Amino acid sequence: MKNNIGDKVAIFPCPVLIIATYDEDGNPDAMNVAWGGQCGGKHVALNISEHKTTENIRKNMAFTCAIADKAHLVEADYFGIVSANKEPDKIGKAGMHVTKSANVNAPVIDEFPLTMECKVIDIRQENGENRVVGEIVNTIVDDSIMTDGQIDLDKLQPLAFDSASAGYRIVGERLGNAFKDGAAIK
Ligand SMILES: Cc1cc2nc3c(=O)[nH]c(=O)nc-3n(C[C@H](O)[C@H](O)[C@H](O)COP(=O)(O)O)c2cc1C
Repeated sequence: MKNNIGDKVAIFPCPVLIIATYDEDGNPDAMNVAWGGQCGGKHVALNISEHKTTENIRKNMAFTCAIADKAHLVEADYFGIVSANKEPDKIGKAGMHVTKSANVNAPVIDEFPLTMECKVIDIRQENGENRVVGEIVNTIVDDSIMTDGQIDLDKLQPLAFDSASAGYRIVGERLGNAFKDGAAIK
């Protein structure tokens, strides 16, 4: 038997993206975004409501997007439950540090091993949400998560957001070869 459960979104997993921006005084902020992802070859899409981050993105038309990893689950969740409108030094309070991006007017959080630097190419309001599209101008990767010059997900241990249980998971083992394994039924 199949069950109709209404208009519930059931797309799993969602990434856990940490979006970092500067405010009007140059203070860094970080926000947790699970309703985001890749859209196109070099673009990141974010669905965000009105937050301090949203104001900052409008002002600077730039952000950085780090992939939250297992080692920083607590900090990543903290960035999603406290606003810079209430705690102006979220990043410092989480024990993290920033360096200004060399490419866009946004901070890079030093402790995350993988960060994309993005300039905003589109931002529009739809159904009370802000749809933001950032073009990736550079990606910064720590040696610690690379193997043979490539990003190694077994080392990165990226978090995924599980909306069914409001939990975090880590991405599991590699199971197959994309664009190849389907050829078995050609
Ligand atoms: C797991 C998780 C995912 C979240 N995803 C989103 C999201 O996709 N869009 C959004 O507007 N808020 C999302 N939030 C809420 C913001 O991260 C939160 O309101 C944050 O405090 C905003 O920070 P700021 O006001 O400093 O920008 C999420 C929170 C959590 C814990």
